[in-house]
Amino acid sequence: MSYNDSFIRACYKQSTDRLPVWYMRQAGRYDPDYQKIKENYTLLEICRQPELAAEVTMMPVRKLGVDAAILYSDIMNPVASIGIDFDIVKNIGPVIDNPIRTAADVERLRPIQVEEDLGHVLETIRILDRELDVPLITFAGAPFTIASYLIEGRPSKSYIRTKTMMYSEPQLWHSLMRKLGDMVATYLRKHIENGGKAFQLFDSWVGALSATDFRTYVLPTIQYIFDQLKDLNVPKIYFPGVSSGELLPELNGLPVDVIGLDWRVSIPEARRRLGGNYAVQGNLDPYVLTAPSSVIHEQARRIIDEGLQEPGYIFNLGHGLFPEASIDKLKELTDYVHEYSASVLRS
Ligand code: CP3
Repeated sequence: MSYNDSFIRACYKQSTDRLPVWYMRQAGRYDPDYQKIKENYTLLEICRQPELAAEVTMMPVRKLGVDAAILYSDIMNPVASIGIDFDIVKNIGPVIDNPIRTAADVERLRPIQVEEDLGHVLETIRILDRELDVPLITFAGAPFTIASYLIEGRPSKSYIRTKTMMYSEPQLWHSLMRKLGDMVATYLRKHIENGGKAFQLFDSWVGALSATDFRTYVLPTIQYIFDQLKDLNVPKIYFPGVSSGELLPELNGLPVDVIGLDWRVSIPEARRRLGGNYAVQGNLDPYVLTAPSSVIHEQARRIIDEGLQEPGYIFNLGHGLFPEASIDKLKELTDYVHEYSASVLRS
């Protein structure tokens, strides 16, 4: 089969015959075959077996017919290399035994050693580079989102300890952001050197901040990361996560190709706020997938019509897939996006 580059083309606002589609969290628990693998191995155990991690990455590509693969890994994986012990606990998420709370905790963090500590991730990427006929997206968690786990010690709804450090000890906060920024930039560069074809920076929880605080406490590090990676000749995606509509005007000027959108902001409004420079990706509410097919199609059609108003659009959800999603409905949605967008683009 020939290589399908529609995802890369759309990131660069080039024309395609039909819209590219992939789903955040497309490798995962809604798939019974994945559940079977999880009976024997934890997420981290899968990641440490490159052949298996590559297989899990490819499963949704084969089953759903999506136009990009996303590396099977987790945003927490690189933090082990800077000196943080964590676990991913079933039905909770990342848990850290010794959360980062003090200057001494931040001081202790080491520079990441990708080859030495995360060689299995690079090997997975090299395998996928040989096997895939669609682009491989690699990813990292953005500093605020990772810091929220490191400081809280577990998933949080309020981010109270994170915000306490941010507002009360801004110097400490900025030094933590810088250390995580270095970690992320070094890690992503290695991904691309080993065969990644695009990368996404997941800032899933930064929508918890006001635009002013985002600009003050987070954006300088996001800018720093993408400045470090400017020379890499692959599409770069920043996903400011859920409830990020108010942050979009702040992103104008960031050296990335694509901005990921959640469902609370419409695509035309997001483009207006972004100032027209970026391709956009999104933004179906994942829980629309619980609805009857007719509703799913109606919502997808509206989003596609909006997306196609300007060059540079990639169909996706507004956030990650949830475990109860139906694989049949996902496949049907993928086909629908391909067919409907092809018919619009032909006319
Ligand atoms: O298909 C893919 O998207 C690739 C794999 C992937 C995982 N995590 C695997 C995983 C990706 C891209 C991530 C990113 C990630 N991890 C994010 C950013 C994306 C987002 O959803 O906002 C975040 C915030 C995390 C942290 C994390 N890891 C959470 C909140 C959880 C869920 C906990 C739970 O059980 O509900 C995890 C665990 C995790 N990471 C799972 C998977 C498939 C589920 C548990 C498992 O299968 O072991």
